[in-house]
Amino acid sequence: MVEKVTLAAWPTPMEAAPRLAAEIGLAAGDLWIKRDDLTGLGGGGNKVRKLEWLIADALRCGADTLVTTGGPQSNHARLTAAAGARAGLNVVLVLPGSGRPDRPAGNLLLDAALAARVVWAGDAAPAELAGQAEKTCAELRHEGAVPYLVPFGGSGPLGARGYREAGEEILAQRPDVRHVVTALGSGGTMAGLVAALGADRVLGVDVGALPDPAAVAAAFASDLTGSEVTAVHLRVRRVRTRGAAGAGTSSGPWLASPRESGGAGCDHLRGHLWVHLDGGLDAPGGFRYLRLRVW
Ligand SMILES: Cc1ncc(COP(=O)(O)O)c(C=O)c1O
Repeated sequence: MVEKVTLAAWPTPMEAAPRLAAEIGLAAGDLWIKRDDLTGLGGGGNKVRKLEWLIADALRCGADTLVTTGGPQSNHARLTAAAGARAGLNVVLVLPGSGRPDRPAGNLLLDAALAARVVWAGDAAPAELAGQAEKTCAELRHEGAVPYLVPFGGSGPLGARGYREAGEEILAQRPDVRHVVTALGSGGTMAGLVAALGADRVLGVDVGALPDPAAVAAAFASDLTGSEVTAVHLRVRRVRTRGAAGAGTSSGPWLASPRESGGAGCDHLRGHLWVHLDGGLDAPGGFRYLRLRVW
């Protein structure tokens, strides 16, 4: 039985977003944001909760090096670098690309500041780097290291426990929550929320990281709950997207301007929008007025 390590300050706050609510046609008190950017670790983000479980498992296995994959601007890679540094583990990031850009920016700069080593894996989609990551693990073993492979996006039944906890936290903060909206990339976030809140209350917005993320999230949720959750039980909407988090050089503005969203930065909103709505999402075509633009 793995017990998690604590890497952040919990619970994260739940903030009302009255101006954004008005912008999308809701009553002021009906839209809330779960601020999982405010964890206090490495710039925050949704991977911290998963990493608490994964790092505990890595330490239990006697690992000294975390290896993971992601897009060139992956939030997951940056947070794995931060969590590894906190836990005293080396971190190797396997990222697509032909080499360090002349002028690295964003998460690549932070990865370096957090002392993570990057292995450039050439032209590949972030979700297809597992083979290269295995190869990197084999090389590390050959050098005498003990690597631990953190799955794509930190997602799997173990990492998803972090979002089952998040779902329980949301229920304690807003017992009347009706809809929880999350980005659906590698699947662990939605799976954990479904385990805590039930499939009916969770809406995943597929950002295009996997060909069939609903099936992946359903499998993780089944594992977590011990009862069968199938993809048809899950509420998933596809939005037009240029790929998963970090697929481009930067995440463009989406959803709303910072002014409309009450000061939460646009980029920070990705995956941190937990919504308590009355009626809206149940209305025919209801999702349209969230006007999501995920980059
Ligand atoms: C900040 C953030 N939130 C949520 C998600 C989606 O989470 P998951 O990869 O567990 O599906 C992602 C990645 O797509 C992300 O970067």
